[in-house]
Amino acid sequence: MTFKEGAGQRRNAGNLRRPLGAAAASLVLVGLAACAPASVQPSGGGPSAPPTSASPSPSPSPEPVEPKIVEVPASTVGKVTELSLNAPDQGVTAEVPRFDDARNLSVAVEVVRGRMLRQASWDKADSAAITARVTAAGADVVGVELTSTVTAGAVTTVTPSAIWYDANSGLSYAPAALIDPTAWSGFVTAVSGAATEAGGDAAKATESLNDQAAPYGTGPAIGLSPEGALVVSFASGILGPERVDLTVPADQAEPMLSAFGKQALTAVAKPAALAATAAGAPDPTLADAGGRAPIKIGPDCMVLKCVALTFDDGPGGGTPDVQDALAKGKAGATFFVLGENTESNPKTVLRGAALGMELASHSMKHPDLARQSAARLDKEIVGTNDVLRQTIGESPLLMRPPYGSHNPAVDKVAAANGLAIVQWSVDTLDWKTRSTSATISAATSLGGYNLPIVLMHDIHDSTVNAVPSIVSDLTDAGYTLVTVSEQSLNEGTLLAGHAYCHGLGVSQAGFNCKG
Ligand code: NI
Repeated sequence: MTFKEGAGQRRNAGNLRRPLGAAAASLVLVGLAACAPASVQPSGGGPSAPPTSASPSPSPSPEPVEPKIVEVPASTVGKVTELSLNAPDQGVTAEVPRFDDARNLSVAVEVVRGRMLRQASWDKADSAAITARVTAAGADVVGVELTSTVTAGAVTTVTPSAIWYDANSGLSYAPAALIDPTAWSGFVTAVSGAATEAGGDAAKATESLNDQAAPYGTGPAIGLSPEGALVVSFASGILGPERVDLTVPADQAEPMLSAFGKQALTAVAKPAALAATAAGAPDPTLADAGGRAPIKIGPDCMVLKCVALTFDDGPGGGTPDVQDALAKGKAGATFFVLGENTESNPKTVLRGAALGMELASHSMKHPDLARQSAARLDKEIVGTNDVLRQTIGESPLLMRPPYGSHNPAVDKVAAANGLAIVQWSVDTLDWKTRSTSATISAATSLGGYNLPIVLMHDIHDSTVNAVPSIVSDLTDAGYTLVTVSEQSLNEGTLLAGHAYCHGLGVSQAGFNCKG
């Protein structure tokens, strides 16, 4: 499987051919070794850029080949599905992989893609194209790089983001995890030096390197070439108007790698099928950042106060207003939609996906699933997956059974169809009160922090009208508003067929929950 180059990137390639003044100086790949002279070439890393080999040169002394990240066929990892979101009304396309045998990695890809799309909406983008490529595939490590190309007015912003998956523990990490904590300051010094050589601002490079990785912060994507060089990719706007790739040569990079980074290099240099089972304990050397840039992906909900707002039974006529209120408040949220409502209003669901919201299943027609025949269960659960696949290009990872009602038969069908069961920890009773003020009060009275999931229904006008205040009140109270997958990503995966009441992927007690 090859991921296609987005239209935005083709436009950007056109930009690269414009006559450039000072900006041209930043469009270089620079080796750090004194013996490796800088060579000028366009910033690499397009999803379909072929592996580079030495090109014929009339020069009698050929330039050294610059290290590059090489795309690995996604099928190397195992069974992979290509997800293709196409929302022409919003100017959005996104093509990313889903890995059947690496659920947390699939969730991480969803989370990063969603945040990239939310960022594009906050930036009032005219178009956004997201592409992905597998950059490492080994027995115990997989690397994926997502790239967003966002055009707003005359400005096109290209943002690469790397995800590194540890298949032993089944957790995904930001790319700083590749670097040993004790080598971090030396790594930053080396890359900042390369930035200076490339005509960039070393202070800006340092600030970016120590920040959270894009799209949550300004931090670069980091990958490895097959020879063992570190390739550090800064988004456009950080070191210059274009994306800038800098490299640390293999001989300097080798002692900087963490144990996880060394595993990643093996996965880059010798691609192999995924073999680890994700059942192991988290790598203790990755227990915290340890002086590096943050190694968790997205918000660390064990440090920040994260709340997952969820909306059931839609889409309804007021759903676009809910989407607008969330976008205005820079919030993420999860919508558990009905298959039949999605069929009758696909554009609203597609708009939600294009705005970076999480779409999940609430069955086709809202029956009590625990009371249905096996045939009806298939219609309700498989049918909704099919409708969502047709509407937004992917089947969901999460399901909320109507009334929270499920039993072992429901769990089995959910497991077979890749669905974790997500209940709630805060019930606003908005369907009962139909009161905007009561819904605001219930959704913002969260008590002790336990990674709460708040239940609401976007088919009621009283709830639709409550959302702007809920978003602003929670934000003012210091909460980060996230999707369910974003809330749980770093703390263990929500597994298919298991049921959860809050965003922690471990055993849970609560209404119909059993992690
Ligand atoms: Ni419902």
